[in-house]
Amino acid sequence: MKKIAVLTSGGDAPGMNACIRAVVRNAKYYGLDVMGIRRGFTGLIENDMQNMQMRSVSDILHRGGTMLRTARCKEMLTLEGRKKAVKTLQENGIEGLVVIGGNGSFMGAKALTEEFNIPTIGIPGTIDNDLPYTDYTLGFDTAVNTCIDIVNKLRDTMASHERINIVEVMGRSCGDIALYTGIASGAEIIVVPEVQYDIDDILFRIRRSRENGKVSNIIVLAEGVCKAEEFAKLLKDKIEYSIRCTTIGHIQRGGSPTMYDRLLAAQFGVKAVELLKAGIGKRVVGIKNNAIIDLDIIEAISMKSQFNLQLYNTMQRISM
Ligand code: F6P
Repeated sequence: MKKIAVLTSGGDAPGMNACIRAVVRNAKYYGLDVMGIRRGFTGLIENDMQNMQMRSVSDILHRGGTMLRTARCKEMLTLEGRKKAVKTLQENGIEGLVVIGGNGSFMGAKALTEEFNIPTIGIPGTIDNDLPYTDYTLGFDTAVNTCIDIVNKLRDTMASHERINIVEVMGRSCGDIALYTGIASGAEIIVVPEVQYDIDDILFRIRRSRENGKVSNIIVLAEGVCKAEEFAKLLKDKIEYSIRCTTIGHIQRGGSPTMYDRLLAAQFGVKAVELLKAGIGKRVVGIKNNAIIDLDIIEAISMKSQFNLQLYNTMQRISM
């Protein structure tokens, strides 16, 4: 293999830049040519790319976002679109592709590898942590730390006014951002799509916390359940404390990656190039029990999600 390409796709995630850097630098270590495809699969279809050198990835390690830009590409869902993508790869002599993105991006990578035999490696880059084959996705740690910081600030003002705050975090249909944020910030209540909520139990827990001397409450709500304002309506007339809502939104997708995400980025990027260099495609990389792993892309995306109920129960026990 002499020439590879890298792209970022779907929602951006902190650590994507550090990962692009690792891919490019390891490819250069092996003397490979590397192209950076702009705007994800859209750029691949439209032949929008740039040559990447060692210095093309200077000064990006610590930056959020993605220097290659990203897109959610509907055309990639069509065979016509995928044929155009393959044409671009062939015309540019690109023999292997690294796709940094989430579930939807992996579907694109899978199609290229299954239908056209293009060696493709997927790197899990999404704040959602919703790819069950890996313990962590790139960007999740940074997003959670951003949410924790915001909850800390909210706690100050909620305590001053003796209020309840419903903090809505992202995650699509996965509750991990809510779960980890809630535990790490001492939220009294965590509401996730994976566990059916019980309004009476929530009211009971809030009242009990007030009887125990608490002066404010934080409810961390995953976006996969409902909007913060809708959830507030369920509580409003049933509780005597005043409620405010905060939707963290895209702030949690930006910012400089944490140490953990930088380390993941470096290891994922290096591993992806190792696989392509060894002539191996149709794989995804990830981390399991602190070890960097790779496995078949089809196996990876068909795995069922396993919510960490033990962690959730831990929170229920200590947040009162
Ligand atoms: O997949 C990342 C994510 O931030 C989700 O958590 C969220 O549901 C979605 O993307 C938001 O997408 P957009 O940036 O297109 O509004």
